[in-house]
Formats: sequence, structure tokens, C-alpha cells
Amino acid sequence: MAYLLGIDVGTSGTKALVIREDGRTLGSATVDYPLATPRPGWAEQDPADWWRATGAAVRAACQRASLAPEQISAIGLSGQMHGSVFLDEAHQVLRPAILWCDQRTAAQCETITAHVGAENVVRITCNRVLTGFTAPKIVWLKEHEPETYARVRKVLLPKDYLRFRLTGEFATEVSDASGTALFDVPRRQWSGEILDALEIPTSWLPKVYESPEVSGRVSAAAAAETGLKAGTPVVGGGGDQAAGAVGNGIVSPGAVSIALGTSGVVFAYADEPVMDPQLRTHTFCHAVPGKWHVMGVMLSAGGSLRWYRDTLAEPEVAVARRLGVDPYEVITDEAAQAPLGAEGLLFLPYLTGERTPYPDPNARGVFFGLSLRHDHRHLARAVIEGVSFGLRDSFDILRELGVPIGEVRVAGGGARSRLWREILAAMLGMPLSQAAAEEGPALGVALLAGVGIGVYPSVPEACACAVAASQVTPPPDPAQVAAYDRYHALYQALYRQLQGLFADTAAVVREVGA
Ligand code: XUL
Repeated sequence: MAYLLGIDVGTSGTKALVIREDGRTLGSATVDYPLATPRPGWAEQDPADWWRATGAAVRAACQRASLAPEQISAIGLSGQMHGSVFLDEAHQVLRPAILWCDQRTAAQCETITAHVGAENVVRITCNRVLTGFTAPKIVWLKEHEPETYARVRKVLLPKDYLRFRLTGEFATEVSDASGTALFDVPRRQWSGEILDALEIPTSWLPKVYESPEVSGRVSAAAAAETGLKAGTPVVGGGGDQAAGAVGNGIVSPGAVSIALGTSGVVFAYADEPVMDPQLRTHTFCHAVPGKWHVMGVMLSAGGSLRWYRDTLAEPEVAVARRLGVDPYEVITDEAAQAPLGAEGLLFLPYLTGERTPYPDPNARGVFFGLSLRHDHRHLARAVIEGVSFGLRDSFDILRELGVPIGEVRVAGGGARSRLWREILAAMLGMPLSQAAAEEGPALGVALLAGVGIGVYPSVPEACACAVAASQVTPPPDPAQVAAYDRYHALYQALYRQLQGLFADTAAVVREVGA
């Protein structure tokens, strides 16, 4: 019996998961670390925290699985995408990693697009250059921290830094590389054309594998630190979205998932690199060899409800503490008491700017339509509905692109809420399913590890063996579907009306000082 380990370097913590080859979870553990926001719009983390958390999470997960780490047969790595870890000649970290949700690089995105040419960027990367992506972070470093830039010898994505610590290899895989804006997504290789245009040496970038391929083996030094056996194979793995999709069984035509984490992602499998001509969604390589995926990414999905909990829901948090329950339970119970549409209260969830459908770093959150009748119940419902309208925006783009949509599986923390699932089902006009094991990206890469060592013949067969899903909402009420259609039109109109004001406000904040 093979024991497979999946490690996911998330934004709030690193999760380690041990499964048996039949997909059964044996044990998991998450170890948290902080996120630094040294300036407005910045988001950084110390890669040393990821490595420390990995060691602790692996040991704890193995202990819960009643296994010694050395019994693990193969390892898969997943992680937050787009982040940049800069290493020097001696392979030491040069500065804190700049993360996916960091918004400092608007100017660099424009420079890159002008320099490479907008059409070339799209032809090669299948996407626009967005503030969260890796390439603009490299250009930002060159412009703002030239002394550090001069010492850079390697640039790694978060999970690939862990791979380096585990195996000593500089390697990545196609799904995460797709989010760098340096990768030829149709050809599944680094783009010499973009690297040349940006004067980024190819030697800075890791070797690229397909996601289930073995990319290295645990080194003696890492074995001593983690308890894993030296020589244990480590497969390519995947960016958290592609890996999460594998964990959810989104590996064949018609499969679509909606992940309600901090970000909100609508993800569809694609046989070809299908692209939105307006570039509102991302087209990236999938963790299934030779396949792609299209996805819409909202930056603040569960993040909006967390903001609501932390800033406006003090009474609910106090009640939850008294009852010994999760504050989100109290908040969603309240939201369920407000009517559909929260009596005209709309929430725009653009708390950290947005990516899909509006690549707008200046967009901000809005409550619109407050009246004396509105209270916490309406506010909470408006937040959940606002995030769901945003997910529907992405879903509608997939429909427009003609991507096959069969079953839609919800996942992530937000999907634990029955209210949220039902609101989403009514907004999309179809029932939703959910996978039985809520282990997300860590499960996906554990399965990829199994494919890498031949436990499963292919990624789809690994999912068929280990991922089960069932319908979790009834078919939505047509009257509710129609009502949400009308509110959704208002929600979209609200952003259009405010778009210019968001830009003007950002300029004033810049000039007056934050
Ligand atoms: C995907 C994305 C996020 C991060 C963090 O493009 O930016 O999903 O990977 O989870």
C-alpha cells in the first residue's frame, strides 16, 4: 500500500495531507504563518516561514496518520500561485516573497505589455499581464531595489522554493509556470521571446515538468530535518487552483468547479487553450498532462466575509464565542433571515481590487442602497450575494466561451455554508455538487504523486479512484433564479457607474497620502 503526501503552501498556512492509495485521508495538519502588508496594497511573506511550517505540518500529519514520515512513498507540492522568491548566488533568500495578492506592480504591467507588445503577450501567455503575476514583480525589483536585483540568480514560485529545500532541485511545473507571464502557455515552455524582451536570464528560471512527473528526490539534509526518507520522489505538483481542481475531480470535459476560499475561482477543464477574447478569464496549463483550464479569479470571495466578520460582526463573534460555535455560522444564520436581494442592498466585493471580470487594482468594496430598514442580517446577506454575483460573472464568461458545463462542484470554506451554496445555485440557475473529501489542493497533489510513481495510470484514473462527489443543492426555484437575474444586472451596472470614481479616488489617496 502506497502512502502519498500532499503539501500545500497556502496564504495563511501550509497544509500537509497523508492519503492511502485508495484516496482515504489518513491525517492532515496545517501550520499558520503571518502575512505582512508593509504598505497599502503590498503583501509579502518570509519563505523561511513556509519551510518551517512544512516541517511541522508534515510531522503532525504523519503522526495523525499513525505513520512515520519515512513511510511516505511519494510527495506532491501545491501552493499559492504567482509569488516571487528571489535567491542569490549562494541560494539564500534575498527579500520577502511578493505574493499573488500584492498590487504594487500596475506600472510594471503596462511597461511589460508595451515592451513585449500586447498581441505578443496574449499570443504567448494567453492572458494579460496582471499585477499579481510574477514577471511584473521581477521588473518592479529591477526598478525599485536595483541592488537586490543585481544579486538575483534564481526566481522561484512559492511551492518551488519548498521543492528546492526538499530536494535541492530548481524545478517547477506547467500549471504554476502559467501564472508568471513568462510562460508560453500553448507550447508549455518558458518563452524565450518574453525573457529576451525583459532581459531576464533563462538561468534564473527552474526546469519545467508536467505536473505528475518526478522532479527530484528528498535530499539527505531535508530528510534529517523532516523525518522523510532520503530519495523519496517529489513530483511537479500544481498551482493551488489546478491542484485543487484535481482534488475535486475537474479533469475531463464538462467538469467545472467553484472554489470559495480567500479568493473565489470558477475553474473549467479544457482540451485546448480556449481563451476569452476580452481576456477577462485566465487560460493556464492544467495539471493533467497536455490539457489546459480556463478560470475566473475574484480576489476577495471568502476574504470579503472574513473582512465582514473582523470589522462589522463583533456582536456575532461574541455570540459565537458564548455558544462555542464558528462565528461564520452565526453570521450566515443571520443572513438567512434577510430576504433575497437584501431589500435592495448590494455589495461590491472588490476589497483588494479585482481580476475577473474587471482587471482593476483600483476597484474597492461598496455597500449600495442602505436604508433605515437594513441591519446586520441584510449586510451579511449582501456580502454573500455580492461575492456570488462576482462568481456568476466568471461563470457567464465560461458560458459565453462555449466551454462545456456539465456538473458544477463547489469547494473551499465558503461551500460549507448551506445558505451560500443555495444562493449560488439560484444565481447560476443549476444545482451544485460537492466532493466528499474537502482536502482541496493537498489532495490533488497527493494524487499527482501517486500518478508519478505509477500507483495510478493517469490523472483522470486517479480521480476516478479517489474522488467522489454528490449533489448538495436541490434544483433552484425558477422565481429565485429570475429575481437574481435582475439583481445581477444592477450589480454589474453599479461597477460600470463607479469605475471612473474608483480610479479618481485611488489618485487622490496617492496624492494626499494613505
Ligand atoms: C490564482 C490565484 C490565487 C492564488 C492564491 O490565479 O491568484 O488562487 O493562487 O490562492
